[in-house]
Amino acid sequence: MSAIRVIKGEYRNKPVRNIAFNLVSGFQTGAKGNFVTVENNGAFPNCPDTIRIKVNNIKDIEYVNGENVSNDNTVAFVAAQTETETEDQIMTRIRERFDILNEMTKACVNGDIRAMIVSGPPGVGKSFGVEREIEKATLFDKLAGKRLRAEVVKGSATPIGLYQTLYKYSDANCVLVFDDCDSILLDDVALNLLKGALDSGKKRTISWLSESSALRREGIPDRFEFKGSVIFITNLKFDTMKSQKLRDHLDALQSRCHYLDLTLDTMRDKVLRIKQIAKDGVLFSDYDFEPVVQDEIVEFMESNQNRLREMSLRMALKIADLRKSFAGNWKRMAETTCMKSA
Ligand SMILES: Nc1ncnc2c1ncn2[C@@H]1O[C@H](COP(=O)(O)OP(=O)(O)OP(=O)(O)O)[C@@H](O)[C@H]1O
Ligand SMILES: [Mg+2]
Repeated sequence: MSAIRVIKGEYRNKPVRNIAFNLVSGFQTGAKGNFVTVENNGAFPNCPDTIRIKVNNIKDIEYVNGENVSNDNTVAFVAAQTETETEDQIMTRIRERFDILNEMTKACVNGDIRAMIVSGPPGVGKSFGVEREIEKATLFDKLAGKRLRAEVVKGSATPIGLYQTLYKYSDANCVLVFDDCDSILLDDVALNLLKGALDSGKKRTISWLSESSALRREGIPDRFEFKGSVIFITNLKFDTMKSQKLRDHLDALQSRCHYLDLTLDTMRDKVLRIKQIAKDGVLFSDYDFEPVVQDEIVEFMESNQNRLREMSLRMALKIADLRKSFAGNWKRMAETTCMKSA
């Protein structure tokens, strides 16, 4: 397979500079301009295996001699992206993603969307965003005398427990949130129940195939129609899952759901997310800190970004706790409890 280096190009509005790729097919002119087709090879996370990179001119690519490209494209891409995406642009991108999270949650609550998967790293505000929208909706419905029924399931659930929960919340006005319930996404029986619950046909029937005294005792039928909506919140990145078995498994679910990746992949993204929420004035609102103290916490996190165990809003709150309790000694405490040992 031959390889090329894209000197100057663009993929999905992102600049591509000096990145080598395995070539699938060479320079072509299409309706939308000139492009080359190459193997993604991890350069653009969450994108197809084969991608078309826009280039202006044939001189913007060069053929590279030798073997297949094996350089770490991801690193090159992230470097290229970080160079060109300004802080403001990153903040706008992140804010847009969280706005979409809010909008999609509302759509699930209204029943316009029957299922969505939200994926993102720990502690960035996935649960917070979904729960806030659901609370708003429940409050509104209470006032309006309607009845929205929402339940957040956290942690693990057995397949039969899942069946019971789906039954309990099977009405059209129900929303079920599975928050960090990755075990049900990885279990064959549970996943088949979910596939039934979220199928795109008009009728979504779920059945429990084996005889169960537990279900009988609770008066739960061994077949019912599910009309509710489901939201999954997870740290798993479906698109880049390594295991093929797992991928096939999750593909079936993903094809039935809207999939929202919050794209907080780099350290810089995470730091900026923290800055953003701090600047909004909501992150430390429970602490009565002067603005200069808030800045001090964020700066401390930024300058120790590679030592902190996690870069997240949750970590910011942990450090804020220390700042509040140990005003004179908080940095030392944070080093001991929040950082990896050197
Ligand atoms: N927009 C926000 N404004 C203020 N605080 C926030 C906001 N988003 C998140 N937080 C706070 O940050 C912390 C982490 O958020 P959350 O629990 O939603 O993270 P998560 O993405 O669900 O993480 P995990 O994957 O570990 O469950 C929480 O204490 C939450 O209250
Ligand atoms: Mg969460």
